[in-house]
Amino acid sequence: MTDSVVAVIGLGAMGAGIAEVFAKAGHSVVGIDYNDEALARGRGVLTKSVDRAVAKEKMTAEERTALLDRITWTTSTPDGVREASLVVEAVNENQDLKASIFRQADEHAPADAILATNTSSLSIAGIAAATNRPAQVLGIHFFNPAPVQKLVEVIRAPRTSDATTERALELLRGVGKSPIVCTDRAGFIVNYLLLGYLNHAVRLYQDGFADRDTIDALMVEKAGYPMGPFTLMDMIGLDVAESALARMHAETGDRLHAPAALLTQLTIAGMLGRKSGEGFYPHPEAGDQSAVAWADVDLPTREDELPMKLVAPYLNDVLGMVERRYATPSDIDTGMALGCRMPKPFDVIAEMGPVALLEAQRAIYAESGEPGHRPTQLLTKLAAADDPAAALAALRG
Ligand SMILES: NC(=O)c1ccc[n+]([C@@H]2O[C@H](COP(=O)([O-])OP(=O)(O)OC[C@H]3O[C@@H](n4cnc5c(N)ncnc54)[C@H](O)[C@@H]3O)[C@@H](O)[C@H]2O)c1
Repeated sequence: MTDSVVAVIGLGAMGAGIAEVFAKAGHSVVGIDYNDEALARGRGVLTKSVDRAVAKEKMTAEERTALLDRITWTTSTPDGVREASLVVEAVNENQDLKASIFRQADEHAPADAILATNTSSLSIAGIAAATNRPAQVLGIHFFNPAPVQKLVEVIRAPRTSDATTERALELLRGVGKSPIVCTDRAGFIVNYLLLGYLNHAVRLYQDGFADRDTIDALMVEKAGYPMGPFTLMDMIGLDVAESALARMHAETGDRLHAPAALLTQLTIAGMLGRKSGEGFYPHPEAGDQSAVAWADVDLPTREDELPMKLVAPYLNDVLGMVERRYATPSDIDTGMALGCRMPKPFDVIAEMGPVALLEAQRAIYAESGEPGHRPTQLLTKLAAADDPAAALAALRG
């Protein structure tokens, strides 16, 4: 299948990398953007990226030339998709723009072509509804930078067919990616779980449970996470995290996804993290910033309850995803390990044991009274099994 034609529409931060991924693996690629200037910019980004790979000796000069020769460039979507078996749309995150691109692609691509969107937050079902082939439409959510990140989320909308999903998975595995599958819900797998956890960390901080530095340090030292939640939010951008949480909250109605008040306040104040020079931490390297962080105060810390206070609700969310048949344990493990370099959640549940996890989550639920903290039925069932460890192993398959 590596000789099939892949059309990539929108050659920005993501599209240029996606085009590189498919061309590198041997596909003929058509790179599409809406005018000559944008096309030249995308082409420049891609060329620079493969030049870097040659400089680092990850690719030979011959491979570079062959890769670039496999790509053609056009500003015409109808022409660009005409021979494609897969169309990947990566234009700006705008529902109307994406719908109009999909209408065009549907009209001009071969009848059996798959149409995929790289959207991070829009409804795949809504985009599919703009076409006459909703069974052949799905989300293929690459992570940034696409040539480097192995993880890809494949998102099935209500009408996406099994055959379309299988073909997309086969194509993605063929280009060296590790795809995981879920259905069409805000945040998909990785961002849903990650942002829920980050939001919870902000709540613990704003409510005076522990200070920022302690939470960050303990999540690294005790939970084995690559960085603390506040350091990570400063990297992601507080505005990005805030708006993604707001979308999840709008969809689920679960108050745990309502952006923590502090997160919203900092966003409104323009304290967006590294990119603005100040977020949860000051980042003087990005500009002239005040020397003291906005809330650099000592708070009484119940350290011994951390990191369980953060990890248990996150693991409860993980089990909720499985309970709702949203994603499989193995795909969730892959997603969190590859996407966030976090320990595989099912390894952590196994290590802790369902009984201890249930006990911790019950205590958090009792203390907070938050319906979203109610232990999932699946957790309760696992803990009540004759052999909880064996029940968990069976669930993992
Ligand atoms: N940036 C990320 O980290 C990231 C990660 C995963 C998914 N995404 C998603 O990928 C998509 C693209 O994001 P991005 O960050 O690459 O955006 P971007 O702004 O860098 O690039 C968008 C590209 O689309 C082009 N474009 C706009 N209108 C067009 C049209 N009518 N026809 C053809 N091309 C057109 C623009 O010229 C630009 O090159 C979005 O849906 C975003 O949510 C982004």
